[in-house]
Amino acid sequence: MSSSLSQKDQAWSGRFSEPVSALVQRYTASVGFDQRLALFDIEGSLAHAEMLCHVGLLSGKDLSEIQKGLGQIREEIVTGKFDWQLALEDVHLNIEKRLTELVGDAGKRLHTARSRNDQVATDIRLWLRTQIDDIRGQLKALRLALVNKALAHTETIMPGFTHLQVAQPISFGHHMLAYEAMFARDDERLADARKRVNRLPLGAAALAGTSYPIDRLRVAQTLGFEGVCENSLDAVSDRDFAIEFTAACALVMTHISRLSEELILWMTSRYGFIKLPDRFCTGSSIMPQKKNPDVPELARGKTGRVNGHLVALLTLMKGQPLAYNKDNQEDKEPLFDTVDTVLDTLRAFVEMVDGMQPQPEAMRKAALEGYATATDLADYLVKKGLAFRDAHEAVALAVRHAVVQGVALEALPLSVLQSFNPQITEDVFAVLSLEGSVNSRNHLGGTAPAQVRAQAERLLLVLRADREGDPGRR
Ligand code: ARG
Repeated sequence: MSSSLSQKDQAWSGRFSEPVSALVQRYTASVGFDQRLALFDIEGSLAHAEMLCHVGLLSGKDLSEIQKGLGQIREEIVTGKFDWQLALEDVHLNIEKRLTELVGDAGKRLHTARSRNDQVATDIRLWLRTQIDDIRGQLKALRLALVNKALAHTETIMPGFTHLQVAQPISFGHHMLAYEAMFARDDERLADARKRVNRLPLGAAALAGTSYPIDRLRVAQTLGFEGVCENSLDAVSDRDFAIEFTAACALVMTHISRLSEELILWMTSRYGFIKLPDRFCTGSSIMPQKKNPDVPELARGKTGRVNGHLVALLTLMKGQPLAYNKDNQEDKEPLFDTVDTVLDTLRAFVEMVDGMQPQPEAMRKAALEGYATATDLADYLVKKGLAFRDAHEAVALAVRHAVVQGVALEALPLSVLQSFNPQITEDVFAVLSLEGSVNSRNHLGGTAPAQVRAQAERLLLVLRADREGDPGRR
């Protein structure tokens, strides 16, 4: 980036008697990061210029000059030939300056009825809208990977945990669909946030609107916005849409982090529930036997970054009086990093979940060791007429006995089981089996393989239909 300009090149220099110091220039400039918005800035300018011409504020000749110039600038940016100048502060002034170099006075007329305040708010919204669509696309791919894994493992039985203690047997597919449900809600949140992102601030000008006869609805329509921000002060100043988006992303990462924690545990030799493909792991430089789950660990760590960005944006907003303040320039880096982090993380997880190899034998063994069907025995006694609390007590004693003997419940002879309650008969062994336990939870949302399969199939239909045409998309 060059910084060779003099004071008179600054768009606002007329009022100033001495040049800005080099430190202040560097401190206040945003072009180092907001050049990422360049193509959206051009898109917004083209729509603005078209409207100016339509309402008679710009000649047809000027409009076509502007269109030609912006086209060339786009080309220069895309091919890396654009000369970004630190002294021109931000993406908007860099592009405007270059446009004026290219097309002269027409370039100077582009900023009629516009301020950088409504311009930047427009650029971020245009950009963020596309990023939301990308993230939603990755979320769908991840949900699909989870559903496919679930379908392949409806009958794979693992121990379900509470307090990280073995609780009840569940279908591994059911466990996968729990994450699908989380990511489905994340997708809903993003779709909902998108509606509020997708409104046009342009026309608010610096803060109060403009004295020119502009047509905001026309610009909104050209740019594919669902509506306009209806208060000019609010339009240029609030970044709640960015906060809301980041909050939704913090939840995406929170869900990713929970999944990561499980993958990390499941990969240890103590669990041995899954294998992850080598391409998602790394070795140790000193311990030759190691295969470390780096990707889930990093994802768990990166959750902290996104949570941090959410807090940064909330804090950025909380003390600001109406309307625009330069504080808002600080909205971009947290937003950019949130998007980069979430997108890369989701991409990695789509592939990782797809490549994950469940180990049904190890899961089964763990489920058998943990007295996971004790609740089923209690329910069995309730069905024979006992009160649940009495049944609970009888089963607790049976479990204690089995623990002392070092055997599973179903390994106790019928006569021993009967010593805890005489109503127990031969049919108890079906209840004590892992399959009996999961199959019995056969209702909507339950872990019975039949339910898991039905649910996964419903989801497949939904996800496939979504792919064909999401009304949320432009
Ligand atoms: N770079 C600024 C930002 O990101 C653009 C708006 C500048 N407006 C101003 N009045 N200085 O917010």
